[in-house]
Amino acid sequence: MTDLVIRNARLMTCDPSLFGLGVIDPGAIAITGGVVVWVGSDGEHPRDAKREVDAGGRLVTPGLVDCHTHAIFAGDRAHEFAMRAEGRSYLEIAAAGGGIAATLGPTRAASDAQLIAMMSERLATARAGGTTTIEVKSGYDLTVAGELRLLRCIAQADRTLRMRVVPTLLAHLVPPERAGDREAFVRDLCEQLIPQAARDKLAASVDVYCDEGAFTLEESRAILGAAHRAGLRVRGHVGQFKDLGAAELIADLGGLSADHVEQISDQGIAALARAGTVAILLPGACVQLRLPVPPIAKLRDAGVPMAIASDLNPGSSHCETLAIQMWLATTHYAMTVDEAWLGVTRHAAKALGLSGPGTLVPGGPGDVIVWRCEEPAQVPYRYGASQVEAVFVAGEP
Ligand code: NIG
Ligand code: FE
Repeated sequence: MTDLVIRNARLMTCDPSLFGLGVIDPGAIAITGGVVVWVGSDGEHPRDAKREVDAGGRLVTPGLVDCHTHAIFAGDRAHEFAMRAEGRSYLEIAAAGGGIAATLGPTRAASDAQLIAMMSERLATARAGGTTTIEVKSGYDLTVAGELRLLRCIAQADRTLRMRVVPTLLAHLVPPERAGDREAFVRDLCEQLIPQAARDKLAASVDVYCDEGAFTLEESRAILGAAHRAGLRVRGHVGQFKDLGAAELIADLGGLSADHVEQISDQGIAALARAGTVAILLPGACVQLRLPVPPIAKLRDAGVPMAIASDLNPGSSHCETLAIQMWLATTHYAMTVDEAWLGVTRHAAKALGLSGPGTLVPGGPGDVIVWRCEEPAQVPYRYGASQVEAVFVAGEP
């Protein structure tokens, strides 16, 4: 017996074996035990379903995958937003004691329950916008014990929220109190934090912020090297302000993603293409910090898979909604509508090392969005109001 059939749909499967977005129109999908068991033409679907949903010809897609967020933090930095509106830059504000360092105090002071409650509210907002799989990075404590605590809180959200939560350990910054002994701090990350997080299975990958004002290329090499030795995949915030050569480093380690990439050399792009590393584009942060557009045409021509994410964080992009990022990608970044959709589905899943989410194929998770529109372009086109009609996670509404 089939649990659920969604039929009479403009079904976007994102199946890599089909052309483009893999649209079947009219299509249908069957889910049993939380897993997709059948995908095909409407009318040929299983007839034994306990529940049948008639999508009325509307767009039905995989649940969206947000592959880059910093959803666990306390406090907000709206005053920095106002300062930037008056012409101060992100790096200037950070150098004067704002930025990431300003979020450490409130995050360290918050209890586990408070952090989990705040994060859960953000994740529920993301889910209402169609996100069913979400990556969450640590990175706003920056002590060994505190980062492990953040990762345990993220694991708690994964157990209690009806969403797929993918935890990442982020080496975000040398905290101000360790500025005098950077070397020892990096050693603590490599010899204590990363091995412990790996041993306790608290993170799927390690991310490093390798840029002006954050970690150097040499420090990043040590951090990602330790992650690689601990059996964790690697990724990085690279080239948001300055290209320090970290895209090549990540590609050399068979890394999952190079993120931001407003600044990236031709060699960096070639290295990503060779390694099959995903470029995660974060247009919300790019626009808000008034940064140049990444070299989209070069990434496209080189065959680098491109994902699009929210970068949800208290500094550069306080946004849970992927439709808005799709709008920015198709307008400001001049990506195509198909690229935007693949960027929040299949390519985003690839950036997390996942093959099931982000597609609707037999054997994959039954994470499905029914939209209020019929055309894929409508979602980024009408970015201001949610077009989500219904969200199913593992076949459950
Ligand atoms: O992805 N650039 C580094 N990290 C974040 C910003 C974090 C913050 O400002 O709190 C980003 O943009
Ligand atoms: Fe980020």
